[in-house]
Amino acid sequence: MSWLITGGAGYIGSHIAHTFVSEGEQVVILDSLSNGLVERVPRGVSLYEGDIASEEVYKKIFSQEKIEGVINLAALKSVEESMRLPDEYRRVNTYGVETALKMAVNHGVEIFLQTSTAAVYGNVEGGVAIESNKTNPISVYGSTKLDAEKILNSYVESGTIKGVSLRYFNVVGASTPKLRDTSISNLFPIAMNELRAHKAPSVFGNDYPTLDGSCIRDYVHVQDVADAHLLAVRALRADSLPGALNIGTGKGLSVFEVLDAMQTYLGTQAEIKIKPKREGDPASLIANVDLAWKHLGFRAKRSLEEMVSTTYI
Ligand code: WQD
Repeated sequence: MSWLITGGAGYIGSHIAHTFVSEGEQVVILDSLSNGLVERVPRGVSLYEGDIASEEVYKKIFSQEKIEGVINLAALKSVEESMRLPDEYRRVNTYGVETALKMAVNHGVEIFLQTSTAAVYGNVEGGVAIESNKTNPISVYGSTKLDAEKILNSYVESGTIKGVSLRYFNVVGASTPKLRDTSISNLFPIAMNELRAHKAPSVFGNDYPTLDGSCIRDYVHVQDVADAHLLAVRALRADSLPGALNIGTGKGLSVFEVLDAMQTYLGTQAEIKIKPKREGDPASLIANVDLAWKHLGFRAKRSLEEMVSTTYI
């Protein structure tokens, strides 16, 4: 029996695929290759190219493979782009999940793992997000992912499938250069690129109500995130899980702290540009990780230094 990983040629999906293969699980991948890269697919793993919102591709996969569970990563993930292309985000992130779930249930699949995001919380009072907090996404991206969670919950509650949504915080680093995030749209790759090119990195806002005035986030290494998936599917084989679990370190880091760690690693000293705040940036967003510890025994292990040194560009 195999795990079907949608988006398995993407940055996070490929880390999960490699981790599962090295732990003796069988994997097949569905990816549209719009952002995914063939070279990230582990050797010996079948890659099906197709749109996750198309029933045809699932019919083909389920007729050719024996699938124990689906790990659904395929999604569009830019907050900014989601505000410009809301219909496309809904089609892929919400209806795509509905299609995958319907097809999975029709073919007797037992487990469905959905990737979700800290963006479902929106602005959290106190800056620490607990799964029981009220969700209040402030972007189209966040709301399409929250709707996907709700669709999965309705299937799970009806008893047709077991599942969980994993809410990632800020995923960074890579296990090898080949699997790195090539999108250069988040703080780690952007700032590392700038520092390596001896350019001044930017800090978006330095008067937030935080210790040093810059935003605080919960940065988690992608290999820790991949390990959490293995724990989640093994837990689901034995039992059910809560609807959603936060996947982070439980510790917040400011933008200045991240830039300091990068400069220490690179042995450089750069000027830092203070730029205006980005619209919609919460001052602080940190995961409460108690539930993932309780139900999965998951604790992120990789340090900030490792996150920095494995941000390959
Ligand atoms: C981190 C912090 C910036 C660049 C987004 C999505 C989230 C998830 C991850 C997909 C912020 C600051 C950044 C720079 C800076 N996406 N910053 N200078 O916005 O926390 O999260 O990506 O699943 O859902 O919302 O991540 O890396 O863009 O920013 O000061 O050059 O770094 O303001 O405080 P973000 P990010």
